[in-house]
This record gives sequence, structure tokens and C-alpha cells, in this order.
Amino acid sequence: MAEMASIQWFPGHMTKTRRMIQSNLSLVDGVVEILDARIPMSSRNPEMDRLVKNKPRMLLLNKSDMADDSATAKWIDFYKSKGFTVLKADCKSGNGLKAFLPAVKNGMLKELMDRRREKGIEGAPLRLMIVGIPNVGKSSFINRMSKSKKAKVEDRPGVTRTKQWIKLGDNVEMLDMPGVLWPKFEDQSVARKLAFTGAVKDDILDIEALAAFLLENLAQHSPKALVDRYKIETDGEGFELLERLGRKRGMLVSGGEVNTERAAITLLDEFRSGKLGKITLELPEEEKP
Ligand code: G4P
Repeated sequence: MAEMASIQWFPGHMTKTRRMIQSNLSLVDGVVEILDARIPMSSRNPEMDRLVKNKPRMLLLNKSDMADDSATAKWIDFYKSKGFTVLKADCKSGNGLKAFLPAVKNGMLKELMDRRREKGIEGAPLRLMIVGIPNVGKSSFINRMSKSKKAKVEDRPGVTRTKQWIKLGDNVEMLDMPGVLWPKFEDQSVARKLAFTGAVKDDILDIEALAAFLLENLAQHSPKALVDRYKIETDGEGFELLERLGRKRGMLVSGGEVNTERAAITLLDEFRSGKLGKITLELPEEEKP
């Protein structure tokens, strides 16, 4: 196994987010949690269940254009079986978002809508809170849904923005929240998956160790992607795979050694930009109960 110093978050951010969620929860009818379809478990904030209490919740599996379709179908079944309203989308292109408002009204907030219909007030505004980890696509989602550029797309994980209400058609309003961070990782494999997808800034990480871990994950979940793109054997440890990849790509330094840093940067860039294909890094059956 590859080794790497552990990844940690800064607890101050989480304290701020926790306070914001708690103080705004009474203002909304439901919470939409945006997840990364490539890591539908690791991109969930472990505190969300406790924080949002009994509010109706929707899980939006975003970046589904980059995730394996059959894995996404498994995750949708998995979360539906836990009682969530679940939708998959690609907020970059807008694919899948036509189903969003119907899923709010006929799924997540159906009981509320039924009660309002009985009282003859179904036209009253529905208010939603949008939450998710940094870089998961919250701004892209809000921009698409509101058809405007009101929410700034910000690619630096950890950057907070001021709160804003965004009016949509159909009496739906959304509260844009800053990215939700974690107090600490109990599980480093979760932290690494977040780093693979770019939710953690690379400049605080050991890029070669990270790439070695990614290669181990890909060798387990998507060996064909490695064979197809890099024409390498997928047996062995992460660092061996990284050297193999660098050698295949001719990334050598004097003396014939492989420039593993270059190989690591190439792999992470190519994975993040989808050049390795549609890949999901975890499956529901692998998760602890
Ligand atoms: P955030 O508010 O949650 O932090 O995320 P944001 O919307 O800023 O999105 C982060 C990055 O992810 C952006 O890329 C955005 O375009 C991309 N993105 C969001 N949703 C999707 C999706 O469904 N599919 C794909 N493939 N990408 C998505 P960026 O590199 O920062 O900017 P750019 O590529 O748009 O220039």
C-alpha cells in the first residue's frame, strides 16, 4: 500500500457552517444535498444526518457525466432504499435538471404539498437549502436552475461565500450556502477519494502518494481504464503502477529514472478531466453498515 501523511480539515470552517445550517433550518421546507456521483458516500458530510434533523431531503448525484452509469444506478437504488428522494444530474450541461422541480414537489416535499393542497395554499413558496462539499457543483446547480450567473462558480475548496436567497420560477426559492467542510476525517480513504476528485487542494498534499493511491483504487474498480489509456499491467502496488505509467509515457529523468511527479500530475489531471472515462470510485456494497 502507498503511504501518505494524513489529510485534515480546518475545524473553524465546519463550526461556521454548522451554525449557519442550524440557524437557517427553520426557514426552509427541505434540504438538497449535492453529492459527487463518482464518490456518493465519501462526498456526503458525515454530520448532515444529525444537522438537518427531520427535514425532507433530496440527494442530487451531480457530475454523473463523469461517473459510471451502472454504479450510479446502484447508488440511486441504495439511497432510495434509505428513504431519500434521489436524482442524478450533470450541472455543467444541465442534463437531468428538468426532473428537479417535479422531484421536489412530487417526491421530497409531497407530504407538504398534499397538506397545502387540502388547505388551498399550494401556491405558497417552497424554500430549499442547498448544501454540499466544496467543488461538488453547488454554484453550477444554482446557476443552471436560476438560469443566471448569480452564484459565483468558485473552484477553490474551502472558500466561503455570503448567504443569498435565489428565486426560481414555480414558487421555489433556494438558499445558497457556503461549502460544507468536515471537522476531521476518521477514515483516510474517504479523505483520499475527496482529494482524487479535487475537493481538497493539491498544494497541501503529497501528489505522488495520492496518485499511487488513485492507481490502486483504479486497479481495483476500473482496471480496463488503466489498460486502455496507459497500456499498463494493473497488478502490483500504487508506486509500481505510477512508475510503469511514467515509463510508458516516456517521463524519464537523467539516468533513466521515472519522473514520478510528472506522472502523478498527468494521472490526476487526466482522471479529473474525464480522460480515463466514466469512473466511480466506490460502490454501495463496499460501505460499512
Ligand atoms: P461548488 O459551488 O460546489 O464549489 O462547485 P462549482 O459549481 O463551482 O463546480 C466546481 C467545478 O465542477 C467547476 O469546474 C464546474 O464547472 C464543475 N462541475 C459542476 N458540475 C459538474 C457536472 O455535473 N459535471 C462536470 N463534468 N463538471 C461539473 P471548474 O473547473 O472549476 O470550472 P469550469 O470547468 O466550469 O471552468
